[in-house]
Amino acid sequence: MSDYTPVPEDRFSFGIWTVGWQGVDVFGPGTRPPMPADRAVRKLAEIGAYGVNFHDNDVFDFDASPAERQEKIDAFKKALGETGLVVTTATTNLFSHPIFKDGAFTSNDRDVRRFALRKVMDNLDLAAELGAKTYVCWGGREGAESGAAKDVRAALDRYKEAFDVLGDYVADQGYDLRFAIEPKPNEPRGDILLPTIGHALAFIQTLERSENVGLNPEVGHEEMAGLNYAHGLAQALWQGKLFHIDLNGQHGPRYDQDLRFGAGNARGAFWVVDLIENSDYNGPVHFDFKPPRTEDDEGVWNSARACMRNWLILREKARAFRADPEVQDALRAAKLDELAVPTLADGEDWRSVRDASPDIESLATRGAAFEHLDQLALEHLYGIR
Ligand code: GCO
Ligand code: MN
Ligand code: MN
Repeated sequence: MSDYTPVPEDRFSFGIWTVGWQGVDVFGPGTRPPMPADRAVRKLAEIGAYGVNFHDNDVFDFDASPAERQEKIDAFKKALGETGLVVTTATTNLFSHPIFKDGAFTSNDRDVRRFALRKVMDNLDLAAELGAKTYVCWGGREGAESGAAKDVRAALDRYKEAFDVLGDYVADQGYDLRFAIEPKPNEPRGDILLPTIGHALAFIQTLERSENVGLNPEVGHEEMAGLNYAHGLAQALWQGKLFHIDLNGQHGPRYDQDLRFGAGNARGAFWVVDLIENSDYNGPVHFDFKPPRTEDDEGVWNSARACMRNWLILREKARAFRADPEVQDALRAAKLDELAVPTLADGEDWRSVRDASPDIESLATRGAAFEHLDQLALEHLYGIR
């Protein structure tokens, strides 16, 4: 058994805003003091993280003067340089300032939309300078609370326009950056546009530079919609669109809990680790969680450490599950190998199955043997195998 100590090859990364969250919620103010970005970087490096993701306004305030902005960026860069932490990803805060109360790329107000594009381009410059390869776009305020307030088809035109314009900007600047859209069904808006992985995948196909746009699915967001996150990730992988992942924990459809990874739906987390570890995903293993507002500074770092530790624990369990000879037999009994065989053989076409006449009675009565297989998985997860 390993001691679950993270190493750089694990590619663990955190949003600066995660450990820096002060605990503000709709019913009360923050319970922790502000955390400067450079302190977050130093502490994350100390606990074994490899990389970070930042919003522009995690580093400097929305209304910072050019000199203040530069001072904060310099402190951030100094901490990165001293710790060796990598900026894997960057993103824009298009949701906190009141100007974005009706959204950014899809605000009904054209001036807001034009300013939002400028804000993103400013931070794309910084992202490229810091070496980020992925640019996350979470449209938290793109949505509505009421029916007539948003013409969804027009808003989607504007959403597409924004990605087309920003795609041109990245190409014209020669930046090595890809966009990753992060779906979410609701919160802070009553209904958010591009609410799930499926909606976002379909939207991406309409973009002028669709090859440069993929997904950043978050555990909690899919589970808020009652969906299976691992299945969503699998489809994104299948479509070559899994550019980034936001890992955290969630207890079913309710407000966005952003628990530490591995808390909440632990069984779901097991399948996520099993999938990612057996895929060609090579982006950061990124945590987007919020240490609960009950925690002090020490609790924040315990919560962050636990995200990585839970990934490593589940990775060990997923590997043991796949290596278990009884599991391999159960996988064969459940015909997983047969699912990988094309339905038509080489040279066959529809004519070959036009009169398919299997033994209906025997197929209908045959058990699928899935329960035994799933119990083996649970026993690995529960720690008795
Ligand atoms: C949420 C969101 C955010 C975004 C992040 C990137 O908790 O609803 O996940 O955390 O991921 O702000 O813009
Ligand atoms: Mn997120
Ligand atoms: Mn979230």
